[in-house]
Amino acid sequence: MDKKKRIGILTGGGDCPGLNAAIRATAKTAMRRGYEVIGIRNGWKGFIDNEHEILDGLRTSGIIDRGGTILGTSRVSPFHVENGPQCVFDGFTQLALQALVVLGGEGTLSATNRLSKMGLPVVGIPKTIDNDVKETNFTIGFQTAVQIATEALDRLRSTAASHHRVMLLEVMGRNTGWIATYAGMANGADAILIPEIPLDKDKIEELCLILKKRCEKGINFSIVVVAEGTKLEGETIQGPGFYTSGNKKTRGLGGIANVIGEIVQEKTGLETRVSSLGYVQRGGTPVAYDRSLATAFGVKAIELIEDNKYGEMTALKGNKITSVPLEAVADGIKTVNLNIYKVAEIFFG
Ligand code: F6P
Repeated sequence: MDKKKRIGILTGGGDCPGLNAAIRATAKTAMRRGYEVIGIRNGWKGFIDNEHEILDGLRTSGIIDRGGTILGTSRVSPFHVENGPQCVFDGFTQLALQALVVLGGEGTLSATNRLSKMGLPVVGIPKTIDNDVKETNFTIGFQTAVQIATEALDRLRSTAASHHRVMLLEVMGRNTGWIATYAGMANGADAILIPEIPLDKDKIEELCLILKKRCEKGINFSIVVVAEGTKLEGETIQGPGFYTSGNKKTRGLGGIANVIGEIVQEKTGLETRVSSLGYVQRGGTPVAYDRSLATAFGVKAIELIEDNKYGEMTALKGNKITSVPLEAVADGIKTVNLNIYKVAEIFFG
């Protein structure tokens, strides 16, 4: 009898809602086409620690609506560990894998591209709440984060209105303002601050004017969305954590909304409060859109493997599920489409 073909799956970088839906779709499609499926635990670290598990029908059932990743994840890059790439190649051979499906954001996919160039048969699937992966309209997890952020903004509006306050909500997104722009637009926010539009003295004056004008019109509350990567006079504010992006280890972001909130209160005299959504926007059950996107990407990943199209990433272009070379995605980010931002901007103030 023929030895069964085997594929591996791993999830790397920050988790996001929809990862389990993608694991399920990839594994079940592969199993239905005669493959055995091995889950590598905790991202690339699983190859270094030799931690993996069999993903069978039972393990991949009933997980489509579960947040996080059943495989665990880490921000470990094989290129930051001694003999890291060799561990990946050795693990791949020992597990008798034919191909590896990597679910990752920009950092993980950049490492995947390098390993692909070294000869590893890989296929990528883009996932991150940040939506900053190039060459795809959307990444898995983004729509859920937007939904959570929008609901938080809606809730802030009612308390802002009761207390006649300016409310700032800081959302994630790393060096892009995708979550801030989409959630702010859905909420009808009075201002949205994103890294793509750096804040200087003039912009701060503009923001304060918007808020004061609302009061003059008799609307004595305001909602401002602040992306964590927003730059004030060219500076970002760094939080306590570290993360690995591509080949770099950098400090995490967080705290810029507190700084802006203080300036706003001082300059306008309006009572101002700041909230930060933090990891809440990355946890929990994925919205239907993310589950469907994850499912379509999982099926596409197996099709790519069957067609021997390695070194590719599944992508959404318009309403078409397709693929792009990993090379086109590595070492760079997709910044906010300013035409979309301009639509949200029409409703500022
Ligand atoms: O990339 C996803 C993300 O949630 C970013 O929005 C955020 O800046 C970062 O991860 C936080 O990283 P960590 O989970 O390592 O603290």
